[in-house]
Amino acid sequence: MGTAADTPALVPQPQSLRREPGVFELTAETRVCVQTGQEVAAQACADLLRAATGLPLPLTNDESAGNNLNLSLATDVAAEAYRLKVAPSGISLHAADAAGLYYGAQTLRQLLPGEGRSTIPCLSIEDAPRHRWRGLHLDVGRHFFSFAFLRKTLDLMALHKFNRFHWHLSEDQGWRLEIKGWPRLTEVGAWRAETPLPGDRHTLDGRPYGGFYSQEEARSLVEYARARHITIIPEIEMPGHAQAALASYPELGCLGEGYEVRCHWGISDEVFCAGNDAVFDFLESVLLEVMAIFPGEYIHVGGDECPKTRWQACPKCQARMRREGLLDEHELQSWFIRRIEGFLSRYGRRLIGWDEILEGGLAPGATVMSWRGSEGGIAAASAGQDAVMSPNTHCYLDYYQREDEASEPPAIGGYLPLERVLEFDPLAGIAPDHHPHVLGGQGNVWTEFMPTADQVEYMTWPRAAALAEALWTAPSARDFADFQQRLRGHLPRLRRLGVNYCDPFSD
Ligand code: ACM
Ligand code: ZN
Repeated sequence: MGTAADTPALVPQPQSLRREPGVFELTAETRVCVQTGQEVAAQACADLLRAATGLPLPLTNDESAGNNLNLSLATDVAAEAYRLKVAPSGISLHAADAAGLYYGAQTLRQLLPGEGRSTIPCLSIEDAPRHRWRGLHLDVGRHFFSFAFLRKTLDLMALHKFNRFHWHLSEDQGWRLEIKGWPRLTEVGAWRAETPLPGDRHTLDGRPYGGFYSQEEARSLVEYARARHITIIPEIEMPGHAQAALASYPELGCLGEGYEVRCHWGISDEVFCAGNDAVFDFLESVLLEVMAIFPGEYIHVGGDECPKTRWQACPKCQARMRREGLLDEHELQSWFIRRIEGFLSRYGRRLIGWDEILEGGLAPGATVMSWRGSEGGIAAASAGQDAVMSPNTHCYLDYYQREDEASEPPAIGGYLPLERVLEFDPLAGIAPDHHPHVLGGQGNVWTEFMPTADQVEYMTWPRAAALAEALWTAPSARDFADFQQRLRGHLPRLRRLGVNYCDPFSD
């Protein structure tokens, strides 16, 4: 790497970068040279650079002309990896797959000086991600966000080489996905009577609130994400965080009646009845519709924060425990998740859930998303099962980012400064033998205290940029001062993209 002054403002930082003399000028004559069969991948790369420069950048199969961007597939690089060489006479970009080409193009885009200029410094980059799962989560249950905002979020994720969008679609406070077989989920469950005032957990605002996504919108978001090499992981919460579903279909709860879509934040006692077979008929038919929309391998079923109060007092739940020989309600929750895991695996899908799915025994084949610290993920990996690390110590982007809380917009609590996000290591505490079981990591954006898209962006960026670097690079390659230096060049790019980021250089 060169001195700070000539370090290109790349985020995440590539594995290796060597500056070379000179520059390459993208011009109106520059073409994107592509092998037959790779036109779709090349088009995606050209589109990115076209949007950044305003240049035509047509595709061609003719490699003879100079001054080109040459894309090629090579077998000597890993999945998602790329090699990029910028020379005065042209650019070459090699990758093993379309994702690698796309990441190389995102790097090229970050090398452009911005403001419509198109001079790129000469250099050689060899780059590959450290982790396979580079995720960002968004809770659309507590607050609902427009489809346009979701697309913008996916664009920003792609800019930072994230590849998993965890879409938290059901909550106590709102069910957000159209399910054709169960229309009341969105007729009733998508709407709550009122919402706590910003920063005040106790006072409700008296204004009805809600919204949902049609299946057609969800499908088009899947496609939009796929074009950016992002897989969407849908989350349908069970057995807890289900109060909006129970308001829609009260027979699915232990009490059988009297539910409303929850208005306050916090944890609800009202959960799906684990003793009623109709609950599984419901969940299976919902999951069939979900699987038909989302082709990815993983289906997230929540599993967190499920109080056992109702189950303890419910004759059906207690009868189920006796029938199945379950010793306590934790084993009942484990039985519940195992049953759903078996269902998903019959359809070739994999269940992922929050670390509470470990309690009472982890379902075989289940992947644990570790949020209450890293312990759950460490336990899963040590037991030979897969884990995604999203510990609240490093990955909870709803926590305060500045020490002076009084001058910040109200947040849920906690403290997670930019520097700590950059220090995140999904493999910390994992024995080397078990490293392959850690798929990667993820940032979580819970939105109780984020009523607007602007507020979501303020909490997400630039901490998610630091997280992107933590998931892409090795801990030994990270340095906060160096990151800050690059961030000074990167923030103007985010500003041009209309992102309402929190500026860490002002107070
Ligand atoms: C969680 O934060 N309840 C997963
Ligand atoms: Zn029950």
